[in-house]
Parts: sequence; C-alpha cells; structure tokens
Amino acid sequence: MSNTVSNNIQHLAVIMDGNGRWARMRGLPRGAGHRAGVKTVRQLIGACEDHKIEYLTLFAFSSENWQRPKKEVSVLMDLFVSTLSKELSELHKNDICLKFIGDLTRFDKNLKQAIEKAEERTRDNKGLKLNIAVNYGGRWDIVNAAKQRAQKVLDGDLAIDKIDESDFSQYLHLSSMPAPELLIRSGGEKRVSNFLIWQTAYSELYFTDCLWPAFDKKELDKAVQWFNSRQRRFGRTPEQVDDDKNIKLA
Ligand code: FPP
Repeated sequence: MSNTVSNNIQHLAVIMDGNGRWARMRGLPRGAGHRAGVKTVRQLIGACEDHKIEYLTLFAFSSENWQRPKKEVSVLMDLFVSTLSKELSELHKNDICLKFIGDLTRFDKNLKQAIEKAEERTRDNKGLKLNIAVNYGGRWDIVNAAKQRAQKVLDGDLAIDKIDESDFSQYLHLSSMPAPELLIRSGGEKRVSNFLIWQTAYSELYFTDCLWPAFDKKELDKAVQWFNSRQRRFGRTPEQVDDDKNIKLA
C-alpha cells in the first residue's frame, strides 16, 4: 500500500473574484463578466461531483458590495433572480440542495421570493449542498450568534460558562456542515474579505491569479492537487501527523 493518504475535501468554499477585470479585458461591460461568472459556477457544480465534494459555498455578494455603483448592484440582483429562475429545475433534477446565507432583509421582494422558492423546492434533495452567500459578512455571522447567546443569558436560560467554541459555533450559519477544508479565491487578491472567517480558521487557502470566468475544471483540478500536497497538522508536529497516517494505513 502506498504511504500517501489523500486529503479529503468534503466542503469547498470559493471567493469568486475577477469578473469585472475579465470583462474589461474584452472591452465588455462588468455585467458581462458576472454573467460569464455564472457559467463558471455551473461548470464548478458539475466538477464537484468528480471530486466527491459534498458541500460547496460560494461568495456571491458581500455586505460590502452594496458600495458598488448602483447600476452594477442592480445588474447583480437581476442576475441572481434570472439565474435562479433559469437554473432551478436543472439544480433540482440534479438533486442539489440550495441554501442562501446572509442578511436577506435588504433584498427586494422579487429576489426574496426567488430565494424562498429555490430553498423550499430543493430542501429534501440529497446531492450537493450548495450554499450561496449573499449580503453575507463573517463578522455579521459572529455578531448574530453572539446576540442569540447573549439573549439566552439575559433571559436566565443559559449560564455564561456554558458558552464555549462548540456551543457558540452551533449558532453560526452552516453550523450543520463540516468546516471548509479548502478555500479558493480567484482573481489574484490574497485575502479572505470577511467571508467565512470563523469557519475557515483551519482551512487551506488557495489563491490563484485566474479570473473567475476563466476558472474551469482544470483550474479546480490544480487547486485540489495543491490541497492534496498539504500536510494538515491542526497544531500538531509533522512527525505526529506522519505517525497518525501510518497508524491509519497499517
Ligand atoms: C467579484 O468580481 C464577483 C462578484 C461580486 C459577483 C459574483 C457573482 C456571480 C459570479 C454570480 C453568481 C450567481 C449565482 C446565482 C450563484 P469583481 O466584480 O470584484 O471583479 P473585479 O475584481 O475584476 O472587479
């Protein structure tokens, strides 16, 4: 038996960056970049199956993205609604379960209804769990959880000493899923931009210059290959990890 154990990616998180630059390089409006980005999402969903990835979380709109020009925000909102209505049947047919995370209160009625319909229809699907982060911020997620636990303490239903990492993390979004083993960011920037900041504490971070609309299956294969070469130590020494691996292989 070979003495390598492939790392397993159950949960992949992605910051899809570079749509605007991709469009500009082609003399196209930024919206064309976002539309091309949706095609990449479609391909990625298919590729997840090949890599046996069970959870995919995409950063589609951050709480900071409201600061973009009004026109671009509106193009993005329209794109979310139209993509949901065009793709829902196909997603459902492929047994994909859709979930949106973020503060949805600020979205208009059309989008809120489209989200509700998509979640409702795909709720019991057993295939890929596809989470789409919209108007999401990691700090917001943490504050939200903190408020819920603080309220319980105020109500006298919770002793403050009972709050530990494991208790607290149950009140974050995606609490029912494993933390992402791998976070990919396209578009050349090397930061996490307030995405799943709690959940990615031990994730491997893969940054690529490839712009999101050009991120194809080959790029995913490269990222997965890189991930497989990482030694995931979680604070232990390399020797401890090797010993553990040998025990598993024995
Ligand atoms: C960042 O690129 C991209 C976004 C803010 C939007 C991403 C959204 C999609 C790809 C649509 C996905 C839709 C669904 C329903 C999943 P950027 O505009 O910041 O690019 P730049 O850095 O080159 O300007």
